[in-house]
Amino acid sequence: MPIFPEYVIKEVAEKNDIIEVVSQTVALKKAGSSYIGLCPFHNEKTPSFSVSPRRGIFKCFGCGEGGDVIGFVMKSEGISFHEAVKKLAQRANVQLPETKSYDDDLAEKKKEKRELLYMINKDAAAFFYKNIKTSKDAIDYFKKRELDGNIVKYFWLGYAPESWTSLFDYLKEKGYTEGDIYDAGLIRRHESGRYYDYFRNRVMFTIFDVNGNVIGFGGRVLDDSKPKYLNSPDSNIFSKGKNLYSLNVARHSKKRTVILCEGYMDAIALIKSGYENTVATLGTAIGEHQAKILEKYFDEVVICYDSDQAGRNATNRAIAVLRQSGNLKVSVLDLKAKKDPDEYIKTFGKARFEAMFQNRKPDMEYLIEYFGESYNLKKSDDIVAYISEMVDYLKLIKSSVELDVYANIISEKTGVQLSSIISQTGLRKSGATTSVIGGNADVINVVNKGTVANDSKQYLEKTRALLLSTLFYDRKLCEKYLSMLDESMFENSLHIMIFRYIKECMENGEKVSNISLMAKFNTNDEINAVSGILALDVQSDDTDKAVKDYIKQIKEKGGAEKAYELLKNNKITLEQFNEMIKNKG
Ligand code: GTP
Ligand code: MN
Repeated sequence: MPIFPEYVIKEVAEKNDIIEVVSQTVALKKAGSSYIGLCPFHNEKTPSFSVSPRRGIFKCFGCGEGGDVIGFVMKSEGISFHEAVKKLAQRANVQLPETKSYDDDLAEKKKEKRELLYMINKDAAAFFYKNIKTSKDAIDYFKKRELDGNIVKYFWLGYAPESWTSLFDYLKEKGYTEGDIYDAGLIRRHESGRYYDYFRNRVMFTIFDVNGNVIGFGGRVLDDSKPKYLNSPDSNIFSKGKNLYSLNVARHSKKRTVILCEGYMDAIALIKSGYENTVATLGTAIGEHQAKILEKYFDEVVICYDSDQAGRNATNRAIAVLRQSGNLKVSVLDLKAKKDPDEYIKTFGKARFEAMFQNRKPDMEYLIEYFGESYNLKKSDDIVAYISEMVDYLKLIKSSVELDVYANIISEKTGVQLSSIISQTGLRKSGATTSVIGGNADVINVVNKGTVANDSKQYLEKTRALLLSTLFYDRKLCEKYLSMLDESMFENSLHIMIFRYIKECMENGEKVSNISLMAKFNTNDEINAVSGILALDVQSDDTDKAVKDYIKQIKEKGGAEKAYELLKNNKITLEQFNEMIKNKG
């Protein structure tokens, strides 16, 4: 698909007044600084659809649909982004650049090739599946591993026969060329020039991408021979570092927590037991790209790796990777017994696994204990080594409250002063805290009563959104207040992205724009949510004062909220809590 340069898209958006465009299909009435009308995206009798001319945004507070002027045309006419831009360009007489370039042609060809490779792999999956029936070994193997017919069908499991060319022949028969079958990663080339099947005499696990395309396979031997697993080679469509096994299932889970394990069998066993929110890496260590993908669909990753030393090392590495890449909460489900999740569930049952799941530990707490066991904390040189080991992980913490909490635990465990642990992290000078929590009688009160109402959390989220939306549309206020803000004040990943975007624009001296911001989001849900944020309007004439208030509230209540969360989950004592909200954020 040809892609228009951003400046053209901006011009198209600027020259099409959103009120005029929407008015072509929706009767709008002025209400304050906005216009309202009956939402064209759902049935309603009282208007909850609002359009803000100043912000160039529409938002329905009934069904949630929202976006900019291009988004409106896309959604109301059911056309692509590209088509909507073309249509609006025509409407406003904006000259579009020549669209079909050499690059576009190439992109189209590449896409066609990818589609072809998906198809070949899908046919191969069908071939492997079909082959189970005629192999007693395969049937016995699935039985032994408690994989019944439904599971085999659901996960597209299969069997690659003990033969050099049966898949190759089958695919040629279907009309595919040698070259394409090779590019799909299903055959190898012998020195003699002849091709032979990549997978032979193996139990096959079909690997899908997030959209459900078949992109490759993992093949396991039926006995103890080596290599135990063989995976499709990386190709045009398959990359081990960019995909996750069963993400196509997990992404549809309503749960916001995802279980991350090491093996295909682990993922299958967990999904079978009701944890459809499980994914596995593809035989390689988890990488930054995969962390970003998980962040898109989930709030928390529960690492559930094998409990042998290799698994433990991989756990520590995964914590670092997941922490580094952003906004995921990370926890560890430590199976303790020398087992992987698959064996664990088979040996001890679902109920016990669920108990382990409920008892999962925050990553830092896990590490404090894990390294605590590998050092003798009565010996001074061990203490030094222990703290240096922990500091590497503490450095990855983004919130100052969280840093304090864990540094505090380490301080108590070792007798080393909190301030010296914190200064080791280099994150901030001890004592010079960023927070301004002062009058916290309120919070102590609620804690004593035992509830911080959910309302207060929601209120805080709304305050954050209001702050962002106000700054987004007011450059002066942005210049004045941006330096008082940092990322740790936001929790929601959309808020963080908007904040980063505003900051980037300010730093580069660019104007913020709906159009470039929206371009950063891929899913309709995200675009709707972002429009919801940008549609928020300050309910005050003194926006300067309002912004100041928002910042103050977020700093105070946000810090207190986090402290309260810890207290509620028995992570800290009431004394520690009081200490925390007295001194810091
Ligand atoms: P089972 O032994 O069948 O229960 O499989 P498992 O998933 O428990 O295997 P294991 O814990 O040994 O390995 C975890 C994952 O690492 C596997 O699912 C594979 O993706 C990958 N893996 C294991 N062994 C090999 C190997 O020999 N070669 C490659 N490329 N990957 C492997
Ligand atoms: Mn296993």
